[in-house]
Amino acid sequence: MTAERLDKLIADSGLWTRSEARTLIRAGRAAVDGVTVREPERKFPRESAVSVDGERVNCSKYRYFMLDKPAGCVCANEDRNLPTVLELLPEEYKRLGLFTVGRLDRDTTGLLLLTNDGDFAHRVISPKSEVEKCYAAVIDGETTLEDVERFAAGLTLGDGTRCLPAKLEGLGPGKCLVRVREGKYHQVKRMLAAVGKPVLELRRISIGELKLKEASQPGCLVELDKNDLLAVLTQ
Ligand code: URA
Repeated sequence: MTAERLDKLIADSGLWTRSEARTLIRAGRAAVDGVTVREPERKFPRESAVSVDGERVNCSKYRYFMLDKPAGCVCANEDRNLPTVLELLPEEYKRLGLFTVGRLDRDTTGLLLLTNDGDFAHRVISPKSEVEKCYAAVIDGETTLEDVERFAAGLTLGDGTRCLPAKLEGLGPGKCLVRVREGKYHQVKRMLAAVGKPVLELRRISIGELKLKEASQPGCLVELDKNDLLAVLTQ
């Protein structure tokens, strides 16, 4: 178990800068395992119960969130013209060094993972992990049994790109679900276009076994726990 300076642990919560953390510790506002600590340089295991003004503070090294991405914003660190998903975060989360796990198109809504854990992000995105992502699409037309079979066999897109076998489930006129285990550029839109069913709206509803709540609205942000992370990686 590695130990960290108390000012670093408190700053890692994202709620205070390192210098604010030093000031509040010296003022006697911080406690570790219930005992007031006034020395910012004193080291404690990250798992210690750190509190400020009596309130428990999350000092975890890595944090994980699920955002219901609204339409109109982009999955990028910066963009000259459009808001980024990171700009939507509350101030305290902006200091956590979060990034998006993969990307959704500007007009796609739904489940987007955010974390500062590069290894976790890599495991989710890596084609080797074969994590299934499910999308609900509003389409122009109605999917057929032949479309379902073409998805299952592995579609070839207009430009010759070969897709892995995917699951297509028709939900009546204008609606379907698509489950894919890879993440090519505009993949779902291109797959549905290849069978003559252009996408009008696209929403990601699950990654692995982690699902958006039924009542989730674009903009909702939920911090994830260990069970949620296991659900993401469950096949
Ligand atoms: N497939 C798409 O076409 N767009 C997305 O945003 C995600 C998957």
